[in-house]
Amino acid sequence: MIERTFVMVKPDGVQRSFIGEIVGRLEKRGLKPVALKMYRIPKDMAERFYAEHKGKQFYDGLINYITSGPVVCMVWEGEGAVGAVRSLIGKTNPAEALAGTIRGDLALHPGKNVIHGSDSISSAQREINLLFNDYELMDYRRIDSEWLTE
Ligand code: RTP
Ligand code: MG
Repeated sequence: MIERTFVMVKPDGVQRSFIGEIVGRLEKRGLKPVALKMYRIPKDMAERFYAEHKGKQFYDGLINYITSGPVVCMVWEGEGAVGAVRSLIGKTNPAEALAGTIRGDLALHPGKNVIHGSDSISSAQREINLLFNDYELMDYRRIDSEWLTE
């Protein structure tokens, strides 16, 4: 099924110059960018974004981290895009993430793990609606599309 997922290069990924690396990995997998922007997430939006983690010991640090600098917000589309991106990203704790995944190759600490990807189709929908307006989402056909599906 063709899905859309929300991806964010976190502030450490921007500061460490990984925007191109991350966009490149998603492009190479065959996923199609549907929206992309730099953004400084305000605190109230960060709290809504990570509402499921409120009360956990890492919550305050997480809100500080994600609001500490600009991020790159993106929507990517493709066959099974939600799961495909989660597997490209690797486990939450980079120490457990396999080599070859983004976190396994580029990160060391769970509190500085470079990238976010939606964990389900419903999370993706919620996150896309939170970070993007409808007019920012591009509907277009890419010339390689027939080479990426049967
Ligand atoms: P994300 O939502 O950012 O894509 O990450 P995830 O699904 O792999 O992990 P999740 O459980 O949703 O946790 C959200 C983010 O909270 C930070 N975290 N820090 N210090 C810690 O023990 C800890 N645990 C989680 C990470 O930045 C994680 O990505
Ligand atoms: Mg998560």
